[in-house]
Amino acid sequence: MTGIAVIGLGYWGPKIARNLSKLQELGEVERLIACDLNEGKCDAIKSQHPKAETTTDFDSVLSNKSIKGLVIATPVTTHYKIAKQALEAGKHIMIEKPLTQTAEQAKELIKIAREKKLVLMAGHTFEYTSAVNKAKEIIDSGELGKILFVNSSRLNLGLFQLDPIDVLYDLAPHDISIINFWLGKEPKAVSASGKSHFIPGIVDDAHLCMEYSDGVIANVHDSWLYPIKDREMAVVGTKKMLVYDITKENELTVYDKGVDLLQENAKSAKDIEYRDKGAVPIATEKTEALQAELAHFIECIERNKEPKTSGEIGLRVVKVLEAAEQSLAHNGARVEIRE
Ligand SMILES: NC(=O)c1ccc[n+]([C@@H]2O[C@H](COP(=O)([O-])OP(=O)(O)OC[C@H]3O[C@@H](n4cnc5c(N)ncnc54)[C@H](O)[C@@H]3O)[C@@H](O)[C@H]2O)c1
Repeated sequence: MTGIAVIGLGYWGPKIARNLSKLQELGEVERLIACDLNEGKCDAIKSQHPKAETTTDFDSVLSNKSIKGLVIATPVTTHYKIAKQALEAGKHIMIEKPLTQTAEQAKELIKIAREKKLVLMAGHTFEYTSAVNKAKEIIDSGELGKILFVNSSRLNLGLFQLDPIDVLYDLAPHDISIINFWLGKEPKAVSASGKSHFIPGIVDDAHLCMEYSDGVIANVHDSWLYPIKDREMAVVGTKKMLVYDITKENELTVYDKGVDLLQENAKSAKDIEYRDKGAVPIATEKTEALQAELAHFIECIERNKEPKTSGEIGLRVVKVLEAAEQSLAHNGARVEIRE
């Protein structure tokens, strides 16, 4: 049994605290400390989870020998500093998405964790959902044929972040981590376009285009400025198409739809025909991904295992974000992903 602390109790931290508290009830977490600079946020956690201890003193968590792992759910701009302090104090860490702001920071954390033999895990929650893993199985089985492209929309009204980060740093880590996981690779180059409509310098609506090897393109639209909540991801293959949408009762559907060539080297629409053999909903479990993710973090600490969403996997997402920011600053220019 392991002592775990959650750092940051804003929007996401209380969900982590609730799941850790459940794991404490199940006997998988020995001691739980919830920490935030804001005392009111600590009090709120204490009232909901009486067994959790709370503190506003981050240093006291670092010096507490019974705490082996830290889950960092503070603003993105604070991840690197807090994570580095935690690793240097000998703590295993899971950092909420995105791992860090820059690839340089991520590489340094990976190096420290490796030298100190500590777990460094990226909080890519969607990779722990049943639907995303089932979709990966379907893609890998070849049922969809050769993957042609991926489309992803993550749109809603808000939430603008207090942290000075744009919509890509807030939402695109989900799209990038899921698509990298599904395709089993990272993009070679990206281009991004977007605009800040309200807060100067903070892009609130953006399009990101990622180029993978074999000509696969992934297009992502992320926005804090949209009238409806849209979370649709589609993977289009030569044989079938898959749609993943967490706003639907059936999150995953495989469509036996596509275009067949009537002759090789098609020259016009006369040389193709459409195929529509319907849709098959795919059953997935409705368990909370965050609990599976936290249980995995604890297992990695106890068994000295490399996490599924390792520091390296987190770095791949940060590299895309960094390249996307460069592209945004240069009117959507194509930016190659650096090693
Ligand atoms: N995995 C997901 O689906 C998901 C969803 C939402 C947010 N997140 C991530 O969670 C992280 C936090 O996001 P949020 O929306 O909860 O932010 P937030 O601004 O609502 O909360 C951050 C909290 O951290 C506290 N904090 C800041 N510095 C601290 C320090 N040094 N020590 C202790 N507490 C400190 C603040 O007081 C605040 O309460 C971000 O990385 C975000 O990207 C992940």
